[in-house]
Amino acid sequence: AFNLKNRSFLTLRDYTPREIGFLLKLAADLKTAKYAGTEVARLQGKDIALIFEKDSTRTRVGFEVAAYDQGARVTYLGPSGSHIGHKESVKDTARVLGRIYDAIEYRGFGQAIVEELAKYSGVPVYNGLTDEFHPTQILADFLTMQEHVEKPLHQVSYVFIGDAGNNMGDSLLIGGAKMGMDVRLCAPEACWPSHEIQEEARAVAIDTGARIMITEDIDAAVKDVDFVYTDVWVSMGEPKEKWAERIKLLTPYQVNAALMAKTGNPRVRFMHCLPAFHNTQTSVGADIEAEFGLDAMEVTEEVFESPASIVFDQAENRMHTIKAVLVATLGA
Ligand code: CP
Ligand code: NVA
Repeated sequence: AFNLKNRSFLTLRDYTPREIGFLLKLAADLKTAKYAGTEVARLQGKDIALIFEKDSTRTRVGFEVAAYDQGARVTYLGPSGSHIGHKESVKDTARVLGRIYDAIEYRGFGQAIVEELAKYSGVPVYNGLTDEFHPTQILADFLTMQEHVEKPLHQVSYVFIGDAGNNMGDSLLIGGAKMGMDVRLCAPEACWPSHEIQEEARAVAIDTGARIMITEDIDAAVKDVDFVYTDVWVSMGEPKEKWAERIKLLTPYQVNAALMAKTGNPRVRFMHCLPAFHNTQTSVGADIEAEFGLDAMEVTEEVFESPASIVFDQAENRMHTIKAVLVATLGA
């Protein structure tokens, strides 16, 4: 029988295409069951620690509601209020939490930290975003893509445009390679993933039939795609000073109506992992606008609010896909 019991979920690298497909199917089934009011709780009596060294809205509520729906309990450990990260080592924290909890979610800085937690805790560890990877987000994105086009994932094309060397670029590259998709990253070369990640994706693509394009050429990258995806130009944990340099590099890569039209696909959809900068309604957005103007944002208000935008479907699907990971790895 197929089972992922007791597995950690640290990056999509560690999962086969069949296992990723299994998690997506399970997520779709759990979503249907929740809507129908027929969900069966398979995590009763389980305790899950949620470590957040960086802030979160979606990932935190995704884990919390998924756990509660399934009968589990959670403890939120935020950026302050515990010894993690300053007074107690990752190795010691892992061994403490592993004695008390059935699983641990970690959002924070280096991928090495989440790997170390998994190594020493003895329980499944889930990556809720690191500087390098955001694997639960990719599950939600692929489920959302499946809901919006009537073809299998290996026939789907998407372009990730903007800061393509961040955790989303790395993860969309590896994830799309795994699922045999038409994956394009579009950015100035300074914002491409590391050579190591590029090589890894190309090696995976040989087995899966994925098509991979990494380019500075916007016209070539967006042609005929099903989905245009972007993310913030400066990620959590990066210094504020990065803004000026990134805006200079990335302004031509802003997702606006002209760029959406360039795809030539009248049914193209817009995706974003969120949070997004697209207007001045947040304090950070207002600061960017005051210093650099509205062209300094990764997506225009017009595209973000257009019928092509499926960003809130993605946000909802974070919960259903996180639930699939919990049920598959911890469920009775
Ligand atoms: N997309 C995402 O991970 O959002 P949060 O930072 O709100 O968790
Ligand atoms: N690249 C963004 C993703 C947020 C979900 C960040 O790391 O801040």
